[in-house]
Amino acid sequence: MFGEMKVFAGSSHPELARGIAAQMGMPLGASRITRFTNENIKVKIDENVREADVFLIQTSCPPVSDNLMEMLIMIDALKFASAARITAVMPYYPYVRSDKKDESRISITARLVADLLQAAGADRVLTMTLHAPQILGFFRIPADQLLATPILLNHFHTQDRSNSMVVATDAGAAKFAGHMAKRLGLPMAIIDKRRYDDAEQAQSVALIGDVKGKDCIIFDDEIATGGSIKEAARILREFGARRVRVGITHPILSGNATEVLSTADLDELVVTDTIPVSEEKRRAIPQLKVLSTAKIFGDAIRRIHEGRSLSEIMES
Ligand code: R5P
Repeated sequence: MFGEMKVFAGSSHPELARGIAAQMGMPLGASRITRFTNENIKVKIDENVREADVFLIQTSCPPVSDNLMEMLIMIDALKFASAARITAVMPYYPYVRSDKKDESRISITARLVADLLQAAGADRVLTMTLHAPQILGFFRIPADQLLATPILLNHFHTQDRSNSMVVATDAGAAKFAGHMAKRLGLPMAIIDKRRYDDAEQAQSVALIGDVKGKDCIIFDDEIATGGSIKEAARILREFGARRVRVGITHPILSGNATEVLSTADLDELVVTDTIPVSEEKRRAIPQLKVLSTAKIFGDAIRRIHEGRSLSEIMES
């Protein structure tokens, strides 16, 4: 067994870090992060961590690379302050989309991030809903992936599903959509989405299944520019869907996502808080509802500390 459990946080998502600590009934560890005028980052751990079992929470959100660097420096500071074990808790994993060499001479940056975490001194990783589960294989240290699906399923379970159906936004999403449809006891449909060339936006051209008069539920791992969801909602309405609801794990909301989504034909957009969503964005997208992941992260941290299984809370 390791020593005392301590939870620290970087500066990326203080609200979630406080939520996780509150769920666990413990304070966040004291640390100070300073950014100098030359953009160098200094971290000072302000309490004793000798032989402690330390969990460091830092999600990936803008400024993405600064937040990653801050995390690496914090891990280094904790390591050299003699922490016994350091778990990098990353609700949204940095550079997760760079997970394959699908062009010549490019970096698989998600693997580079795994190398950097280990080089800095991380002993374990805890993250949520990776874009591809095989990213766990980039690590040579234990890495656990929590899923947001129990949180999303719980939300839709509590609502009227009598006239509903799950819709996959493309053929690639069909397996996951099928899984969610089974869990909700619903039928499913698949949108035929095509990309005609690299520069062009993906377009939904057809639909497999009958959504006429149905309440459609779409699930996805992340929403970035919002283009895919807006396009899916458009085609579902065109085919006569009555309502369109969406459940997403990571609300990246990059580029002009706020504008895109505020004009998308959606009845509900449910996301989790793995990435901070500003008040401004929440106001601009009235259909947006943010569900907390604090409990599942708090439970997972405690279980890791106590050497207990995570399977029960990873139940998808
Ligand atoms: C794609 O593989 C992902 O699961 C999401 O569908 C995608 O990231 C959404 O991107 P956007 O919101 O920019 O259309």
